Amino acid sequence: MKPEEKVARIKALKGMGHIAAVTAYDYPTAQLVGEAGLDLLLVGDSLGVVVLGYENPLSVTMDEMLHHTRAVARGTKVPLIVGDMPVNTYRRPEEALGNARLFLEAGAEGVKVEGPRLEVVEALTGEGIPTLGHIGLTPQTIQEYKVQGRDAGSAERLLGEAKGLEKAGAFAMVLECVPEDLGKRITEGISIPTIGIGAGRYTDGQILVVSDLLGLFDRYVPKFARQYLNLRGEIRRALEDYRHDVESGRFPGEENVYR
Ligand code: KIV
Repeated sequence: MKPEEKVARIKALKGMGHIAAVTAYDYPTAQLVGEAGLDLLLVGDSLGVVVLGYENPLSVTMDEMLHHTRAVARGTKVPLIVGDMPVNTYRRPEEALGNARLFLEAGAEGVKVEGPRLEVVEALTGEGIPTLGHIGLTPQTIQEYKVQGRDAGSAERLLGEAKGLEKAGAFAMVLECVPEDLGKRITEGISIPTIGIGAGRYTDGQILVVSDLLGLFDRYVPKFARQYLNLRGEIRRALEDYRHDVESGRFPGEENVYR
């Protein structure tokens, strides 16, 4: 499917609550995301934290994001692949356009930018680059990790930002860490899909960081995430079994040797 067809498909899912999105950062995970039939794959800047081991996503570089986007793009053609623009790579429209094009060359089919960066979103969408917005808790600029839009003033501000992103041409937006009733209000107040992460049950879709979903990251598990697997436990068990087998002479076995 062409990128514009994938975007149209996602937009057509508005109102159904069915858009399934996830982050991924490498070839095998991207393959599995495609095989599982998810709609959107975000090469998130969470890469910096959950894969590269930085303290926060601000340390991730454009080169690192492109390297992982290439790996993901080799793995699947099924979901819409969106590259997450790292901090300070879209300060001005021209800078955003240059870096977004690098993402497209690396195999992304769209880009995500954080915050109500309307000029930047207009510039990107004006050049036909599918752009995913991201409001609510925006890790690149947030001072404190907490639920956003709890009081009337900030809820109004977020609704305004969502409408601004829609007008600027974003095809959808991530809504992160807002109360469920605000997630619903924003979703009902705009005509493009909202993809929630910690935004309750009434957004047009959900996105999770794959490492939270698979139980691969142990520093913290956010309240909004559901862990479908304890992959850390599984992998550790396999590695320990392997070590025991080597130490006890059970590996390699008869079936593993050449004659
Ligand atoms: O970088 C990321 O993983 C994200 C998701 C939390 C939406 O932006």
